[in-house]
Formats: sequence, structure tokens, C-alpha cells
Amino acid sequence: MPISFNEKNQVFKLDAGNSTYAFMIEPNGYVAHLYYGDKIASDAFEYLYRRMDRAFSPAAPGTTSSESRDVIPQEFGTNGVGDFHAPSAIIRQGNGHTVTDFKYRSHTIRRGKPSLPGLPATFGSDEEVDTLELSLYDEASDVEFLLSYSPFAKYNAIARSVTVINHSQEPVRIEKIASAALDFVDGRLDLIHLPGAWARERSVERHPVNHSRTVLESVRGLSSHQQNPFFALAAPETTETSGEVFAATLLYSGNFAAEIELDQFNQLRAQIGINERTFEWELRSGDRFTAPEALLVYSRDGIGGMSRTYHDMFRNHLIRSHWKDLKRPILVNNWEATYFDFNEKKLLSIAKDAAELGIEMLVLDDGWFGKRNDDHTSLGDWFVNEEKLKGGLGKLAGEINKLGLKFGLWFEPEMISRESELFRAHPDWCLHVPGRGASEGRNQLVLDMSRPEVVDYLFQTICKVLDSANIEYIKWDANRHLTEVGSAVMPADRQKEVSHRYVLGMYELHERLLNRYPKLLIEGCSGGGGRFDAGMLYYVPQIWTSDDTDAIERLKIQYGTSLVYPCSTMGAHISDCPNHQTGRINPFATRGYVALSGTFGYELDLNKMNAEERALIREQVSEYHKYNHLIAQGDFYRLTDPFDPRTVVVIWEHAAKDGSEALVTMVQPRNVPNGQLFRVRLRGLDPAGVYEEEKSGVCYTGEMLMNAGLNVPRYERDGAGELFHFIRR
Ligand code: DGJ
Repeated sequence: MPISFNEKNQVFKLDAGNSTYAFMIEPNGYVAHLYYGDKIASDAFEYLYRRMDRAFSPAAPGTTSSESRDVIPQEFGTNGVGDFHAPSAIIRQGNGHTVTDFKYRSHTIRRGKPSLPGLPATFGSDEEVDTLELSLYDEASDVEFLLSYSPFAKYNAIARSVTVINHSQEPVRIEKIASAALDFVDGRLDLIHLPGAWARERSVERHPVNHSRTVLESVRGLSSHQQNPFFALAAPETTETSGEVFAATLLYSGNFAAEIELDQFNQLRAQIGINERTFEWELRSGDRFTAPEALLVYSRDGIGGMSRTYHDMFRNHLIRSHWKDLKRPILVNNWEATYFDFNEKKLLSIAKDAAELGIEMLVLDDGWFGKRNDDHTSLGDWFVNEEKLKGGLGKLAGEINKLGLKFGLWFEPEMISRESELFRAHPDWCLHVPGRGASEGRNQLVLDMSRPEVVDYLFQTICKVLDSANIEYIKWDANRHLTEVGSAVMPADRQKEVSHRYVLGMYELHERLLNRYPKLLIEGCSGGGGRFDAGMLYYVPQIWTSDDTDAIERLKIQYGTSLVYPCSTMGAHISDCPNHQTGRINPFATRGYVALSGTFGYELDLNKMNAEERALIREQVSEYHKYNHLIAQGDFYRLTDPFDPRTVVVIWEHAAKDGSEALVTMVQPRNVPNGQLFRVRLRGLDPAGVYEEEKSGVCYTGEMLMNAGLNVPRYERDGAGELFHFIRR
């Protein structure tokens, strides 16, 4: 059993893949964190429990001065009894106080892993994962915390979540609840995180933690472009290929906070959960509240090792979609081809070209509904605009199907335009605060997804559309962040629940649609990659990575995204040049190499392609079919770093898990005239295997490619790119 409890030394030991996590019940009843790192067979961890009398570190009632919560690493931080770090929970009780003093009460260990009510969660069979539920109890408030730990047998990954139960007779208010806390005795680590912006999502930042509390957060209602719900703490010497990393991501698509705090003794507390700035929850007598799941990953093999564990975990234990392991249809999306200016004739003529070129699905983007000819109107009016599409979606989808293509459709379910029938009928259905105007973003307001009737309306209207035509894919967009987060139906003292209830409503709509249309392929989206998080991957197998479709910009965006998320989840399309976001002109072939490393598709007017471009599209389509199994199911290796100013050629590799083949992609963003010659070391090959590079016919041993490296060609132009396919002979 990968979870054990030793009665004698009171130590809990959790083994996850090649990692071990240990903590103990202290003689005083608190729960002290002892170890997280490489696998250790023994459970005699009690020697790591150290007590020390420290100045200005008071001890909680009933404990001695050497047992201050300020000094002893905790499993979950208490509040107001001497632990001066950010608490893991704040519970306001009937008497107005928030002091809580949680101690061990009991525990259970079971096979498998329960799902979380209304929330995304990793899953696994009884053979793949076990679960420890640790009960902590605060006698004075009569409130219990159930800390859940699920180590996965095959991966260095532990899923954690927390449930709060109010056993008292009166309501309490949860003002803060972390999903996981992680204390380190030596916290002199580097923090790695993924800040960004629209069109520049998930750039990688790394810096040593300092003596302060750093908060990585979103208060935008969605997980956001600006910060991803993820952090990694790496030893200073850790690189892409070696060294220790401790990482956490939150399976949550709303306001999150990750707090990283280095204290006076260089001890560190890192925790992640719902953002307390926009959260509060009234917990009535007898009720329970479950916080979202956090997924911890440990790597001894550098940042790359951490990424591959997340990739495998998401592909095998998080994504549920019918499409999870299936090759996704190559799509053409009309957005950058037509924007709002299309009709049935234009779409069919794109579809005709698509069919000739081997493209498999046409996706009709924004503008097909209500009176929407620009972004000022009609969100919420999910019925077809027959002026644009005569005969409706059924006819259009039928014609497209006749050409041999699937048909997909764009929705932005959570939004409402002031200029819409829906707004006229239900002006109070949008998030708003009485007496204040509602801020607009992209000329639109946000529906109050915390209201069941709003979710019902959306479910019914979307079903009606989906039942009216053969629609096999939807793109679920969300093009603004949340403001005036107030609900017309929540009582005044519970308005701070709305942000979280919004996320729960959005998840519920997904769940209901998935239950009704289990084979529907859904692509998540939020103005590009503004909701690229592990929570969404429970409902959708792919997410549009960024509105920035420039292949050179995508090198950084896809690199940063790959730190946590597998390539099979990254929406990536070949778009037109000059690129609509940057004005840059990149070679058509290179645009293909970059898009191939995601879900792959086109976002341009196929009717405008010349003979050379059409030939290239045919080639790219066949490359997709040839390589997609490696990209979607293989191991991903980042070989050079586009954020490093010394990088001249950006190089990455997709290797088959059995080492039988590998695809290496090289792209040179800018030519360095008369520049240096480079070699690049490949990874994940069989050292003794002989690999033939398909194009050149040159053979190398795996050992040569991984130790001496492959010669990187001298490319003589900006944006040059190339694929290398290695097959073991
Ligand atoms: C933002 C998305 O990211 C784009 O791809 C496109 O669907 C537009 N919204 C449509 O409004």
C-alpha cells in the first residue's frame, strides 16, 4: 500500500511514483510536515521532527515554548495561535473570532480516489491511486477539516483537497481555505511561474524567493492570461534536465491564489487555493464545503521531468473526453478568414477547398447568431441568423457533411450583450451591483452563472442548437473578465460567494452538456488562452492556446504552456501572413511546424491560397497524420529555451515512449549572420539503438544523439524551420 501509518512513531508515509511524502502526529496533537522528495523506503522519519525555543515565537495553549507553530513545519497552517505565516484557513465563528487550533482527530486510508462534488478532480482505479483522509478538528469552534491526499502509484504526483465540516449549531464563515499547503525547512529555492497577457500567455519567470510573501493570483473571475494557477519551487541548481522541483497546480478555473512565503528562519510555506480576496462561504450547521483539488508533482529530473509528469497525469488521470486518445479532426476556423463578414456561400466555398486539401472539419466562429455583425450585440441569443445563413445551421451542416467534413460551432455561453433579446427579457441575469453601472468589456456583460435558472436557460438553448444540426465540435469562448461580481438573488451577506458559485455554475453547464453529448469535442477558449487550466481539462480535451497565431510568438507561448500542459491540449493553427496580431511574415512551412506541435488546424481563407501554398497544405496534412501519435502521446522535451537570449534556434522533441522514433523541430526566429555553429542533445532515445534520420538517411546511435548531439544546421533566414524524424532501425 503506498500509504502507511506507523502507530509507533505516528508517521504517515505516502509513496507516489519515485517520490515520498511524510508527516507525523506530534505528541501535542498537531500535525507536522517532515519530508517531501525522492523515494525513501524506511518510515523512520521521526528524527526529522525538531523542536526549538525561539525568541518571539509564542507557543499555543497547552504546548511548551519549544513547540511554537511559528517554527515547526505544518501540514496545514493554523490561525492565531502562534503560526505567523499566512494561515491555510480562516474560519469566522459566531463569536466574531477567527482563531482556530486544529489537531489530529482520526484518519482513514482507502483504495482509489473519490470524485469531488461539482468540481474537477483527477481519477484513477484502485490499483492506480490510494487516498488518505486526515481529520483535523478544532474543539472550540466544532469545525473539522478533512485533508485528502491521493498519491498515484505510477507518477510522482499527489492530489490534495480539503473539505470543511461545520459540526457546531451555528453557521460559520469560511474566509479562506487553501487546497494544499507545503512547508519546507530549507526554503532557499527558486520560484518558477507563468505570468502573461492577452496574446502573450504563459511566459516563464524564475527568481529566487526572498523574505516576503509573494502572491500569484487571479481576481479576474477566470484563471486568466495574466497568471496561471501553477507554481514550481526549484533548487537553485535545477535546470531543464536535472535537479529538484516541487510544483503545484490548482484544478480550478476561477480566482486562485498561490502564496509563497520565506520566513525569518529561511523556512518556506507555499500554498494554493481559491483566492481569499474574492471569496467567502457561509457554512451552516451540519454543512460541508469542498475546496478545489491541487495536484502536487515532485521531480528529480529538472523542470522537464516535472512537465512530463503533469502531461502524463493529465492525459491519463484528468481528461475524460471521448476524444482524449483520439486523433482530433484537422479543422479550418473561419475567424481570421472572414471575421463577422460571411454567409453560407463563403463558408461552403472554404469548406470545398478544405475538403480538397484533406482538412476534416469546418468551424464556424463568432457571428452566426442573433443579429451579430460586430461585437456589440446578440450574445445570449443563441439562435441562427438566417439572413446570413439561409436555411439555418441544419442546412449548412448538411452541405458541409456532404463535402465529407465535420461541422463545428462557436459559442460564448457565459456572456450577454445589452443589445440582445435575452437582456431585454432578463436584465437582472447579468452580474451587477445595484446602484452601480456594470463595466463593459468588449461591449458585453457577464451572465450570473451562480443562478440555476441561467445555467438551465443556457443548457436548453445550446441543446436546441446542437439538436438542430450535426454539430460535432464546439469552441467555448469567454471574452472578458468579471467585474461588479454581484448576484441579484444572493442575500447581502453572501455576495462574496458569487465568484466561486459562478465557476461551479460554469462547470455544471459543461457537465450537463457532456452527459447529453458524450462524443462532442469541446475546445476551451477565453480570448485566446485566458482559461488554460487543469480544471478546464476535466471538461474539455483541448484549449485555444492564444489569439496570437504568429508562429514566432507561439514558440514562447507554447513553450511556457508546455511547462504544465501536454501538447495534445494546445489549440494551434496555421494563420495568414502578414500575421493579424504582429504584422510579421513567416514562412508557410514554419507556421506548419509550430502548429503541428498542438492540435493542428488552419485559421485563414483557404480560397486565397496559391498553388504553392495548397501543395504545402497537402504536405502539412500528411505530416499531421504521420506524426500526431508522437505529438499527442509521446514524451515532450524542450531542448532549447526561447526565453533565453542566447538561444538562436528554438528546438523541441517529441519522442515515442518506447524510444522507437522521435520528431525534432527546429525554428530560427532571427538569423544571426555569420553566426555560431551549434549541436543539440536529443533525449528519450534508446542509447544502444541505431536511429536513421528519415530525410537524410544518416544513421546515428541513440547514445551519439543524446551525448554528442545532432548538428543544428545554419539557417540563413528569419523564421526558417525544419523537421527531423528519427526512426530506430
Ligand atoms: C476570441 C477567440 O480567442 C478568437 O479565436 C475568436 O473566437 C474570437 N474570440 C471571436 O469573437
